[in-house]
Amino acid sequence: MSGLFITFEGGDGSGKSTQIATLAARLQSLGADVRTFREPGGVTPDDAGERIRTILLDPAHMGLDVRAELLLYEASRAQLTAQHYRPALAEGAVVLCDRYADSSVAYQGYGRDVLPVDEVRELNRIATGGLVPDLTLLLDIEAADGLATASATGPDRLELAGLEFHERVRAGYLAIAAAEPERVRLVPRGSVDEVAAAIWTHVEPLLARAGLDAR
Ligand code: TYD
Repeated sequence: MSGLFITFEGGDGSGKSTQIATLAARLQSLGADVRTFREPGGVTPDDAGERIRTILLDPAHMGLDVRAELLLYEASRAQLTAQHYRPALAEGAVVLCDRYADSSVAYQGYGRDVLPVDEVRELNRIATGGLVPDLTLLLDIEAADGLATASATGPDRLELAGLEFHERVRAGYLAIAAAEPERVRLVPRGSVDEVAAAIWTHVEPLLARAGLDAR
């Protein structure tokens, strides 16, 4: 058994965490061994990935160089992939990730608009050893709408990057989805229930691969 690797992508404030929790519960009710993660980050507060997350989100680091930023995201991703994603998938688990490699392409590539996108892709490949998701759900949201939601809890360093940056991020995501329509499924905005239903139509056909029966 080789598990199922599903990643969630989208702009800030696109509602990924609610949808991940809903999907995790639904899969668990079918008997799946579901493991959820979020990037950047780790699993326990002491994990290096959580320290990296603190550095990346801290508005004190507005001057962080684009390459330094990219490599920190990749460092977090490399550790999670080696320590958690690959072992979990080898055990046949369903791995749900709140962001993965496409985030670096969208944010550090298209968003920052400094590094060639192919360089970002190459670093993703190095960091993950080439682990590609079975399915990526792109929760689409207009940049301004997403920022309005996300900022309600106090903006982090990325949310402070400005509307034009976030518009490039969104355009980047749409380009990724257009280039890889088999892997990346675009989920339009809607109510929480509508989005959950759309997500399920993309997940259901993959269940057999993880040894699950949709019923
Ligand atoms: P987080 O609070 O987890 O945002 P969200 O709830 O929108 O996922 O913060 C993560 C931020 O880091 C978010 O603004 C997206 C950004 N990011 C990148 O720029 N590159 C990456 O590779 C990843 C994983 C995240």
